[in-house]
Amino acid sequence: MTQNNSWYKDAVFIELNTRAFKDSDGDGWGDLPGLTSKLDYLKDLGVDAIWLLPIMPSPLRDDGYDVSDFCDIFPAYGTMEDFKKLISEAHRRNLKIIVEIIPNHTSDQHPWFQASRDPQHPEHAKYRDWYVWSDTDQKYQQARIIFTDSETSNWTFDQLRGQYFWHRFYSSQPDLNYDNPEVQQAMLDVVKFWIDAGADGLRVDAPPYLFEREGTNCENLPETHAYLKRMRKFVDDYKPETLLLSEANQWPEDVIEYFGDGDEMHMNFHFPLMPRLFMALAKGDRTPIEEILARTPELPEGCQWGTFLRCHDELTLEMVTPEERQWMWETYAPDPKQRINLGIRRRLAPLMDNDQRKILLLHSMLLTMVGSPFLYYGDEIGMGDNVDLFDRNGLRTPMQWDDSPNAGFSEAPAERLYAPVISDPIYGYQVVNVAAQENDPDSLLNKIRHLIAVRKQWRLFGRGEFAWKHFNFNSKAVVAYQRSWQGQRIVVLNNLTDAPVSGWIPETAKSFLDLLTGESILPGDYTLAPYGFVWLKPVGPDLPNEATGPNSPQAGYLGSDKH
Ligand code: NOJ
Repeated sequence: MTQNNSWYKDAVFIELNTRAFKDSDGDGWGDLPGLTSKLDYLKDLGVDAIWLLPIMPSPLRDDGYDVSDFCDIFPAYGTMEDFKKLISEAHRRNLKIIVEIIPNHTSDQHPWFQASRDPQHPEHAKYRDWYVWSDTDQKYQQARIIFTDSETSNWTFDQLRGQYFWHRFYSSQPDLNYDNPEVQQAMLDVVKFWIDAGADGLRVDAPPYLFEREGTNCENLPETHAYLKRMRKFVDDYKPETLLLSEANQWPEDVIEYFGDGDEMHMNFHFPLMPRLFMALAKGDRTPIEEILARTPELPEGCQWGTFLRCHDELTLEMVTPEERQWMWETYAPDPKQRINLGIRRRLAPLMDNDQRKILLLHSMLLTMVGSPFLYYGDEIGMGDNVDLFDRNGLRTPMQWDDSPNAGFSEAPAERLYAPVISDPIYGYQVVNVAAQENDPDSLLNKIRHLIAVRKQWRLFGRGEFAWKHFNFNSKAVVAYQRSWQGQRIVVLNNLTDAPVSGWIPETAKSFLDLLTGESILPGDYTLAPYGFVWLKPVGPDLPNEATGPNSPQAGYLGSDKH
């Protein structure tokens, strides 16, 4: 059972890359002091917690997910002192900082691996069994390959050791051997290190793959769950308010295991919901959302879903059927360059054809439907992407602060930036930037700020019950639901189509307050604008259901179904 106050249930998160946010010393790379200087921006955006992509030393073959030292800072980002300063400045503003731990694997440059692979290494005896070695590459054949575009096997031969090593991701990321108790302890020491450094939470990368067993797909194994529970117990004993945020990209039936009985991870991302929001929007039909919420189990006490639209990775299509994947690729990634592995490497604004109505509609669902929402840096101003950059780097370009050279991100010469700024005519920093949007009340930035501010006034969005509602019985175009908690309720209507949709707001209250505009809305006929949405708070006491009218059901509007 959780021993903390579940602060993460009320939080709005943002995910960002230190390297991409703000360069303080003119070397072309964002850094921790730069990020610290921009905390007020994040506070004004309305977020409560900042999830930092990996900040540890790394050769960056997987952009920091290939760690070469778990207990230090990547030099270009600064020092541990800079990290501690970031923590204290964040805490001063009541912001929390989440760091990554990557328990499944290290970089092949990590000293543990160097010692493990080299029989002549002075520490070989200690580290020999820290990785998964084999004389053959035929073991664990049922395990799928995750990076399908770049890897053909989960085994790679190491010349020095004369054996194959196991890796679920790039061959430069050997998997640690969790059957070795020393590895298990070493990772708990890493957790302790970052808690001691002040982190409020840890995003636990790729948890399904910690153990391997013959005859299985080597995912979600009981041994893996047992270890994650041990990690949780350590956290609960050591600093119980620390959040463990798990990244198990699995179906709901498998993901639920990562919450245990409330004694494993506090949060896990709802991966299957995400592509279905995009699917429902493109189809103008809420069915994909209904289906996945029907498959979404109740969580144990103290647990929470993390929801998101886009992130630093491809828009993953692992949790859809092959037919749905093909449809998503054809719809959202018509250019093959926009596809990678089993997903789509595009940012939110280009996916939405830069249509502010659609971007906001997705945020309306993100902020009200289920769990705690995660934004991805730059999406709040509608940044674009660059498919010409390697791997997923086109989603990780410099933050666009203003229209000065290098988008106000860095004073380095442009050729020294870690990645070029986006500068095309539609999404380029000359037009899409924070400064331009700050003073424009109609900007995407200000509208998203407003949505976040309203969400945060109502804890029911993070903690309440979810129930479907009916707005128009003849159409699937509207996603209508109610969130309720401690005697309060809010009804949310989202129109997935570019046509107005008329429906019926039942007389369950004398009137409703549209929380986003402050307007009073009377029960009865109502028309949602194209891609429009409203968050309706009943005013006064609830009334008995008297649903009648041209679009109303004969009965039972309040007979909503809990998922
Ligand atoms: C998930 C991370 O989000 C992704 O960026 C990374 O490549 C893999 N885990 C491997 O660590």
